[in-house]
Parts: sequence; structure tokens; C-alpha cells
Amino acid sequence: MKIIAVADYQEMSEKAAQYVIERVKNNPSIHLGLATGGTPKGLYQQLINDHQTNFTSYIKVTTFNLDEYVGLAPINPASYHYYMEEQLFQHVDINRRNTFIPNGVAENLKQECQRYDEKVLLEGGIDLQILGIGENGHIGFNEPGTPFGSTTHVVSLTESTLRANAKYFSSEKDIPTHAITMGIATIMKSKEILLLASGLSKRPAMKRLLECAIEESFPASILRQHPQVTIIADRDALPKSFQSSVTEHSRV
Ligand code: F6R
Repeated sequence: MKIIAVADYQEMSEKAAQYVIERVKNNPSIHLGLATGGTPKGLYQQLINDHQTNFTSYIKVTTFNLDEYVGLAPINPASYHYYMEEQLFQHVDINRRNTFIPNGVAENLKQECQRYDEKVLLEGGIDLQILGIGENGHIGFNEPGTPFGSTTHVVSLTESTLRANAKYFSSEKDIPTHAITMGIATIMKSKEILLLASGLSKRPAMKRLLECAIEESFPASILRQHPQVTIIADRDALPKSFQSSVTEHSRV
């Protein structure tokens, strides 16, 4: 794992954008795995700024999102479909036919999960997966205890995740309790992973990711077994021993 420590959220977003833009320029048909949530918003804004000033094109790029809430239609402002439109897609030249997000209102959710995995496979997999991390170590919505071998599936969100998400909903009863998420095995098949973390609230999870055992009770720990992971995190999010600028961390 390569760990790049930066000063703050702004620098994390800028560094992450440089990283993604370089990959897109090297491979204009790249398959990007995208995350939602607060963490990548700054990255997406930087990609938009770059698209507007340097004209980096996304016309041939394919994207796969990690997850979507069950029961939220794309027109629902709290859905991840809506988020992606607002935060990135409508501001760049991406072809909507090349953007994929699980359908949270599919009639048959199990079939939808299978269809999503098949789509990722059919398109040739993910070249670069962008990840955030939950305070409980979730990646995507793979909550503690999710089998490392899991493919795309429906999850029941934990108390900790529901609490963290509450700020995006006007009333408690609107907070979805289930989501579709790409599985851990699906994420681990990505050729490369870029994990972003910012803020003190993420430090305990980052400490556990970097220092503790690889176990299903802490889903992100599996990333230590991936051959190509880069972490860009601000100093607040990193334990003390990883706060110098660039650290190579042995894989296991
Ligand atoms: C979002 C996702 C989640 C978030 C995580 C961190 O698509 O898959 O795993 O990355 O919950 O969320 P934020 O960035 O809001 O702290």
C-alpha cells in the first residue's frame, strides 16, 4: 500500500484529482469505480474544474458506482443516481450510456445484484476503484461481518451507518435501511484502488486498516491484500506513524 499524507481535505481532493486525471489521460476508455458520500465531493469538483479549463474528456470513460439505496428512485435527491448527476456527470462530457449504478428500485433486487455483477464482468472489470471508508470500516456498504467473498448484494445498514447518513435526510423515517452494494470480492477484482479519507472521525478506522489484523469484522482490512492500493488521506485521518508525506506499507 502506498500512503500519501496531505495537509487537509482540499489537498486530498487535489492530489486525488491529479491521480485520476493522469489515469484518464493514459487510458481514455478507463473503467472507473465511483464512490459517493462526503469524501469524494472535492475530488469530483476538481475533475469538473479540470474538464472546464484543460478539457480532459470523459466521453469514452465507463463508470460503475459502488452502491445505491434500496427504495430511492434516481429522481430522489438523496439517491446516489441523483448525487452522481449533481456532483459530476452533468458537468463533464460523460456518455450516460457508459455510467452504471445499481437500481435501488428494481422489482427483483436479487436479480438486480446479479445483473450488476455480470455487467461489471461483461464490460471487462474496473481499472481504478475510488473508495471512501466508513467509521466502522465499511467499504461500499459492506458492513462489518460481510464475507470477503461477497459479490453485489443487498445489505441491511448498521446503526453506525444510519447515524452517519442521517444528515442527508430531512426526517428519520426517510433514511433507507437497506442498500445494494458491490461486494468485497467485486471491489477486490479492481486492478487498482484509490482510497480517500479526511478528518479526525476517520482516524480510528484508518488506524485499524493500517495496523490491525485482516478480518471480516473490519471489511476495509482486506485492502491490505490487494496488490495496488493507494491511500490519500489528510493528517487528521491518519495515525501518527503514517503522517510523514509518503509511506510504503507492506501488504500483509
Ligand atoms: C459511498 C460508499 C461508502 C462511503 C463511506 C464514507 O458510495 O460506498 O462506503 O464511502 O460511507 O462516507 P463519507 O465519505 O460520507 O464519510
